[in-house]
Order: sequence, then structure tokens, then C-alpha cells
Amino acid sequence: MVQLVDATPVPHGGNLGQAAERYGIPRENWIDLSTGINPHGYPVPPIDPQAWIRLPDDRDDLEAIAANHYGAPRALAVAGTQAAIRMLPAVLPKGRIGVGLLTYGEYAPAFERAGFTVARFVTSQFADLGAEGSFVLDPARELPADLTHLVLVNPNNPGTERYAPGQLMQWREQLAARGGTLIVDEAFVESMPEFSVAGAVNREGLIVLRSIGKFFGLAGARVGFVLACSEVDRAMRNLRGPWTVSGPARLAVRAALLDTGWQAETRARLIASGARLADVLGRFHPTIWQTPLFSWVRDEQAGRWQEGLARQGIWVRRFDVIPGVRFGLPGDEAAWARLEAALNVVKVEAGI
Ligand SMILES: Cc1ncc(COP(=O)(O)O)c(C=O)c1O
Repeated sequence: MVQLVDATPVPHGGNLGQAAERYGIPRENWIDLSTGINPHGYPVPPIDPQAWIRLPDDRDDLEAIAANHYGAPRALAVAGTQAAIRMLPAVLPKGRIGVGLLTYGEYAPAFERAGFTVARFVTSQFADLGAEGSFVLDPARELPADLTHLVLVNPNNPGTERYAPGQLMQWREQLAARGGTLIVDEAFVESMPEFSVAGAVNREGLIVLRSIGKFFGLAGARVGFVLACSEVDRAMRNLRGPWTVSGPARLAVRAALLDTGWQAETRARLIASGARLADVLGRFHPTIWQTPLFSWVRDEQAGRWQEGLARQGIWVRRFDVIPGVRFGLPGDEAAWARLEAALNVVKVEAGI
């Protein structure tokens, strides 16, 4: 008999179909700011038709190119970091794992399903909101003694908190001493590389995840990399199995990782666009938290922001656990203008 697993879908941005249906606005009339994906993704060159016919070659040079790009000793290609998140519980000893209260929503259910105890934490900037049973992740204090593992998204999505590599390595050391692991999800670190700990994954108790979806704007290719010590790399490689990253996706990502000129231009462009977005939003709200790829507005009126913008065909991501709204980057000048005009309307209508 088939054993059913509780698999309530985790809400995500990018769900434009639902928005179109709910607000009766045709899909093509929306501006989708509900994800943190670079709207100017890597211009993928034409794909060799053979890549569609042949089985993917897991032993091509993609992983070596990725390792070199990340400054890591090795890299394991996966079908998006999402796939890696679901594999992690199988390679870590069971225990208590710290997961942010406000962070990427797939970690807690993945570990809960596998029988781990998930301890939610809030970072010091949201310490006032700590729910019962959660702890405050405070750099000045030791990690809770009963914690085995810790997941940190750096910079955090959506809260934008960022952790310096020195701090991360201290937490890694504390966890490694008790047989635990620090998992650092660097999905959004590509335009702030000074925060990456990818080069340190040979140290005990450290796993880093890198996504090709965000900075490279290739979320549809479904490619990510796990950077880890050789033992974890081997275990996850066995779990992953063959051919999970398709041939065409391998070629697209290979080209993107080798194109350092495009990367440098993109980094500069995203930093400027991220600052521009924070500046626009700053005219409507006193405190904006920002990264190059998205801004976060913490506001009790998150529902009114989302609703008011949606009625004007602008889709943003609302969070309820700590009320707030995440805005991705508009893709062109018309979208910037529409966002600003829509914010003005919301301000008047909703009194925000
Ligand atoms: C922090 C974080 N990690 C991982 C993922 C999964 O990304 P992907 O599977 O496209 O690599 C996302 C997607 O939104 C994310 O925000």
C-alpha cells in the first residue's frame, strides 16, 4: 500500500496564475514582483540539439566549473537547491535543528517530515516577535546547548539579515564540536560575494547551497549546487542519482558560470537596482530592508499593501509569520513607473 506523506504545499512567490484568477486580471497584464529572481536573466546561447537527444553527462565539466566559480573544493549539481533541501535530512544525524521563523519556507517541513525537531529562531532585529518556544539567534551568546544543526539563509529571504563569515564559522565550530552541521543557504549571495563561506566547506560541519535561479535569473533551468566536504558530497551524490540535471540546463548554466563579464555587469546593475527599489519604497515606508535582488517591508498592514497593489496588477509576496511584504525588482522603466504610481494609490486609498 502507498504510504501517504503530509505534503501541504509551502506558499511561494511566482504564483501569478493564482493572482490572475483571484483578481480577474489576465496574466499578461501583471507585473510580477513576487520573487527575488533577476528579471534580466542570463541570455542563454543556442543549445546544441544533441543535448535534447543524449542522456545528460554527469561527468562533464559543469561541476568543476561551478566549484571554480564558487571558490569551493568541489560541487554537486542538483535540480535546484530545492531538491537539495529535501535530501539534507537523509545525510545528517537526527537531532534538533534551528530554522528561522521568517525564512525560506521549505526547510522546516523537510526536516519535520524526516523526524527532526525543528526549533524556530528569530534574529536580533526581530527579537520582539519571538513566538513561544523560539529562541533568539544572538551572535553575542552561545547557541542553545540542545541544538544539533542550524540553517541560515545568508542573506536571509525575506528578512535580509546577513551574517559575516567570521560569525558563521564560530557557529559552525560550536555545532561541529557536538557532531552537528551548519547549513548556509547562499541563494542570494552572488551579488555580495564577501559574505560567502563556500571556500570553507572542507571544514567539519558546514554545507553550503548555491542556486542558479536568482542572480543568474535561470530559475526555470532548475539547477543548484551543494558545496560540502567529500563525505557529504558522496552521500548526497548517491542520493541524487544520475541524470537529474538535464543536458540543456547543463549547457545553459555552464555558459552562465563562465561568463565573468556578464556576471560583473550584472552584479553592478543589481546593486544599483536594489538601491533604487529601496529608495522608491522608502518614500512610502520609514524602514526598508534591502538586498540587491529584493526589498522587505515589515508592516502590520502587509495584507493591505498586497491587496492594494494586486488590484492594480502588481503582484508582491506577503508574509504573515512576521507581517511584511517582499518586493522583487521591476524589469523595465514602465514597470518602475507603474510600481510607483500604484504605491501612491495604495497610500491614498489604504492610508499607508
Ligand atoms: C533561500 C532560498 N533557498 C532556496 C531556494 C530554492 O531555489 P532553487 O530550487 O531555484 O535553487 C529559494 C527559492 O526561492 C530560496 O529563496
